[in-house]
Amino acid sequence: MLKILIIAGARPNFMKVAPVIKAITAHNARCREGDVRVNFSLVHTGQHYDQKMSDIFFQELGIPAPDINLGVGSGSHAVQTANVMTKFEPVCLEQKPGWVVVVGDVNSTMACTLVCSKLGIKVAHVEAGLRSFDRTMPEEINRIVTDSLADLLLTPSSDADENLKREGIPESKIRLVGNVMIDTLAANLQKARSSGILKKLGLQKKAFAYVTLHRPSNVDDPANLNSIMSGLNRLADHMPVVFPMHPRTHKMLAQFGISPVANGTMKILEPVGYHDSICLTESARLVLTDSGGLQEESTYFRTPCLTLRPNTERPITITLGSNRLTHPDRLSSDIQETLNGKEELGQVPPLWDGKASERIVQALVEHNHVS
Ligand code: UD1
Repeated sequence: MLKILIIAGARPNFMKVAPVIKAITAHNARCREGDVRVNFSLVHTGQHYDQKMSDIFFQELGIPAPDINLGVGSGSHAVQTANVMTKFEPVCLEQKPGWVVVVGDVNSTMACTLVCSKLGIKVAHVEAGLRSFDRTMPEEINRIVTDSLADLLLTPSSDADENLKREGIPESKIRLVGNVMIDTLAANLQKARSSGILKKLGLQKKAFAYVTLHRPSNVDDPANLNSIMSGLNRLADHMPVVFPMHPRTHKMLAQFGISPVANGTMKILEPVGYHDSICLTESARLVLTDSGGLQEESTYFRTPCLTLRPNTERPITITLGSNRLTHPDRLSSDIQETLNGKEELGQVPPLWDGKASERIVQALVEHNHVS
């Protein structure tokens, strides 16, 4: 019996843990006598806690209710990280897991990894090896710390393997398993297509832009946020702009006194659920985002994507996929160029095949044998 704790903390984690949990259940159902069964508990750190940032994903993706909720909530990076650590340590001491599985690059990912490495508990990191090479991003710090401490690095693409090897991580710890986000996307495609959001918002396929923004570099800087909002208002003169707003963005707009034009074509919404988001991504003429997940989901659908960042830790979405970087200063001209181009771009990268979570469970079981 292999006992593991799976950690989920913030919105982008939920679509990564869902398929791993399903793959564990399927693995156990296939086990014969003598095979290693996997016994898991799900720990929600509570980094995201709103219905629309957390609960809806559990409902839509069929994730079981967390066995343990640490309830850490919001705070500065130090406060949030420290709260996860102090609340997670006693859980580890009591549960004594063989492995802890962390996903992505949020504060909870790094905090739980740090706790385990000091307690001698092995950590597997799903979505290891991604690098933006931009240490001003809090997520880049989380990635570097997590990967340097983890025992098993489960990577989505070969660029991630190269990054890890360059950092001196032994090849024996690295397993290329593919993109686990795509497992969830493939499993939910039918539900997403019947989400009803297009009808509800009066949208025509390939005739609107889908926008999400939440990175501190875009939304915590008044000049950048102002110029992005002006670019979006100009775009809304030409086509509907669907903009479900992250709480951080909401807060910063209010703080800087910037009011988006809420006319008929600029549709500012509360955060949307997973199925609606996937439906919007597939149907949009253009995605404009600073999210890592949306860069990947656009690439899967070959929907043209403009990423409002100077870099990306997901270069494959540019080299193979439909993604391109942009900047607030040239947003309008990049939008125009994209709208003049093709409706479908790029190719789907290798191992974005809906089977990454099966390979993850396989890797965990095998590494349990050798360690
Ligand atoms: C976090 C992750 C980021 C991820 C993003 C997705 C880190 C460092 N950042 O950023 O990688 O892309 O989640 O959303 O871990 N808030 C609410 N309700 C919630 C959660 C947050 O209102 O359920 C508000 C709070 O005012 C909080 C702010 O949003 O201060 C920011 O939340 P926080 O978890 O600090 O970081 P995110 O910007 O969401």
